[in-house]
Amino acid sequence: MTLPKQAQHRISETLAVVEDEPVQREVLAGSLEDEGYQVQTFPCAEDCWRALQHGECSPDLVITDLCMKDMSGIDLLGHIKELNPEIPVVVVSAFADVPQAVDAVRAGAFHFLTKPLELDAVHNLIHEALAKRRLEHEVDSLRSRLTEELGLKGLVGQSQHLTEVLTQANRVARTDVPVLLMGESGTGKNLLAKTIHLASLRGSGPLVTLNCSTLGEGVLESELFGHEKGSFTGAEETRPGYFEQAAEGTLLLDEVGEIPLHVQVKLLNVLQDRTFLRVGGSQPIPMQARILAATNKDLQQAVSEGTFREDLYYRLNVFTIQLPTLRERKADLPALIERLMETIADEYGLECPPLQRDAHDALLSYSFPGNVRELKNILARAMVMASGSPVTLNDLPVALRPTPEQGASLARNEPEDNSLPEQVTRLETRLIEEALDAHNRVKTRAAESLGISERLLRYKIKKYNLTPRPKDS
Ligand SMILES: Nc1ncnc2c1ncn2[C@@H]1O[C@H](COP(=O)(O)OP(=O)(O)OP(=O)(O)O)[C@@H](O)[C@H]1O
Ligand SMILES: [Mg+2]
Repeated sequence: MTLPKQAQHRISETLAVVEDEPVQREVLAGSLEDEGYQVQTFPCAEDCWRALQHGECSPDLVITDLCMKDMSGIDLLGHIKELNPEIPVVVVSAFADVPQAVDAVRAGAFHFLTKPLELDAVHNLIHEALAKRRLEHEVDSLRSRLTEELGLKGLVGQSQHLTEVLTQANRVARTDVPVLLMGESGTGKNLLAKTIHLASLRGSGPLVTLNCSTLGEGVLESELFGHEKGSFTGAEETRPGYFEQAAEGTLLLDEVGEIPLHVQVKLLNVLQDRTFLRVGGSQPIPMQARILAATNKDLQQAVSEGTFREDLYYRLNVFTIQLPTLRERKADLPALIERLMETIADEYGLECPPLQRDAHDALLSYSFPGNVRELKNILARAMVMASGSPVTLNDLPVALRPTPEQGASLARNEPEDNSLPEQVTRLETRLIEEALDAHNRVKTRAAESLGISERLLRYKIKKYNLTPRPKDS
């Protein structure tokens, strides 16, 4: 049989159709087979559940009627979500049962459809659900590949924000393109620069870091370009500058926003001509290093204020990576806490103590204006204070401890609802929020990255009552 072109990629995708009404079951199954899917049909939820448990059916998606004798579609959904939460389940209901179908979506169904079914709508929805699933798989495999490729032992995090940064870093690492790393203090710019260098073809060469903020004007020039013997008072020897030291490796211009204007011109010339002169020298020396630059300043604003040259800005800003703040990627906090505690224990020769639940919760609720560096400092201090015993709330800075009123209200609160539907809601809300943040709150792009239609995204934003931010489109 020759399949229509658009159907060919679906041949390996299996759908389970659960419907007690034989005619409806056969019509739906037939139309899905025509679309190129492999279809297994079940006259009741119990049969489907049994087949799933025994491995006789391993569908990529289940489409189930809601009201059936014995086991309902919602019960089947619950079982499937326990067995494998990744399998999308589409629930079909009579119009009168819409409230129950809505409950099903709350319990983790991908979507619901009302009878009589419009086959085109069914096909579209299934296509959407499977595309989302494929995308999730791709993201997962990309994440593990990135971790391997970049040897990112140092760069902890799996949030969407950090994954995007790593994707960009991975793409640019093997080129010679200058990279501008922007981000608040403590977000990991230096660590990422090191990672890019190591992942680049220059990784076996030197990584030389010039901190542009700690050098005076005159010194900066000779530090950058080197100087000839006798070129100024005190220049007793000819000295190579950072460009020469970086050789065929990488030169990181750290805090690049602090370079004085007159040195900016010279730097621009070097980047353009790829040669430079030592201070007091007349022999052009080729510039071989790859340039990375980092700043926590808003360089564009510096350009508009006239403190940073626009032409240099465009030279350095060929490829920009914006590092997320820790507040934007709180999902990474647990892994970061664990890794940083191990690192600190290694660095200071301390025992790595357990972290008590209330201390952990206090860290998760904090906003970390100083980002990962602040987290690291807080943990180091707490581990010293705890001196080998478990780290408690009292080992954390006062600012992180809940006020007495907060403490009392926490104590009164019901325990967290960890039911499956509640967890699914939390996960979905988080993923949507992350996607919106990552795409500047532009819904079309966020929906694309989530592998769902914009319409479905809007529906979910409304359903979860997600608050629009100023940039929301
Ligand atoms: N993703 C991460 N995983 C593990 N450690 C991290 C991560 N990001 C940052 N760190 C650690 O946090 C600390 C601060 O990072 P780094 O010095 O790279 O920040 P920065 O952005 O260059 O800050 P500044 O603007 O102040 O120079 C370092 O100890 C670094 O190892
Ligand atoms: Mg830095």
